[in-house]
Amino acid sequence: MSDKDIWMLNQRPRRNRKNESLRLLLTETQLSVNDLVMPLFVIEGKKQSIKIPSMPGIEKMSVDLLCREVEDLFDLGIKAVALFPSISEHLKDKKATESKNPNGLLQKAVKAIKQKLPEMVVITDVAMDPYSSDGHDGFVKNGKILNDETLPILAEMALAQAKAGCDLVAPSDMMDGRVKYIRKVLDQNGFQDVGILSYAVKYASAFYGPFRDALGSAPKQGDKKTYQMNPANIREAVREVELDVKEGADIVMVKPGLPYLDVIRLVKEVVNIPVAAYNVSGEYAMIKAAAQKGWLDSQSTSLEMLLSIKRAGADIIFTYFAKETAEHFKHKSREVQKKKLL
Ligand code: PBG
Repeated sequence: MSDKDIWMLNQRPRRNRKNESLRLLLTETQLSVNDLVMPLFVIEGKKQSIKIPSMPGIEKMSVDLLCREVEDLFDLGIKAVALFPSISEHLKDKKATESKNPNGLLQKAVKAIKQKLPEMVVITDVAMDPYSSDGHDGFVKNGKILNDETLPILAEMALAQAKAGCDLVAPSDMMDGRVKYIRKVLDQNGFQDVGILSYAVKYASAFYGPFRDALGSAPKQGDKKTYQMNPANIREAVREVELDVKEGADIVMVKPGLPYLDVIRLVKEVVNIPVAAYNVSGEYAMIKAAAQKGWLDSQSTSLEMLLSIKRAGADIIFTYFAKETAEHFKHKSREVQKKKLL
C-alpha cells in the first residue's frame, strides 16, 4: 500500500474500539444477573454438604443449608434456581415412585425455599432418572424405554412439585407428548399458573457426565439415544420446539449450550416464546479443570462463554457459574460506585 492508499482508508472499524467508554457504549449484547438460573443439588439430612469432585466449587446440600444458599443467591440478584434431588439408592424403583411423595426430598426443598423466600422462582426437574433404579428418564421394559407408559409418571411427578409450590416444572425427559400431558394434568388440578419450561431440544451429550456423577443417575444399561437427540441434527430441533409450543410450553430450552450455539440461534428465530439454554455440568467442569491447571482464567472464560450463549439468542441461561458471575457483577458495580465517589 502506498501512502496515498492508506489515506483512502475510510472504513476503520478500530475507531469504534478506541477506548473503554466507547466500547461500552457500542456493546451489542449485555449479560446480566437477571439472565441467570442457578442449578442446585439437594440431599437428605441436616447441615450436610458434599463436594462434587468433577464440579469444583459446587456442593450438594441438605434443605437447611440449601435455604441459606438460596437467600445468598437472591441477595446477589439471582431470581431463579433449578432444583435436582440426589435420591438414596434404596428409594429408587422402576416406576420412580418416590418422585410423587408429597414429603419427598425435592418437594421438601421447594416448600422450604418458597416459605423463606417466595420471590425466588423455583424450577423443578421432571424426569425419572434421579428416582429410577434403571437410571433412565423413562419407564424401562425389556430393555426398551416406553414412551406412553412414562407420561402418567411424569405428570404425577409434576403435580407433586406443583403442589409443593414450584413456579415452573421443567420436563427434561424427552418423551414425546409430555408437555401436553403434563399441562392437562396440572390444569385439571387447578395449577393453571404453574408454567412449563420444556427441555425441548436436549441432545444425547457426553457433557452431562459430571451431573450424572453428582446424582448417581447414569443409566444402568444402554444410553439415552432413543430419546435424547442426535448431536448431528438441527432441523429436528425445529420440529421438537414447534411441537412443544403447540403442546403448551411457556419456555423452551436448548441443552447443552456452548456446543449448540447454532441451535440456540435457530430456535430463537422460529419460536416467539422465551428461549432458555443450559450451560451444562461438562461445560463447567472443563473450564474449572483448565483453571486448576493454570491454563485458563475461570472468570473471564466463563463470562465469555455465557455472553456467547446470550448472543446466540438465549433469554435465560442455566449455569453453575451463576453465583460467581453474580458476585463478579456485584463487585464490579461497587468499583464503579467507588470511582464515581472519588
Ligand atoms: C436428567 C437431566 C440431566 C441433566 C439435567 N437433567 C442429565 C441427563 O439427561 O442424563 C444434565 C445437566 C448437566 O449436565 O448439567 N433428566
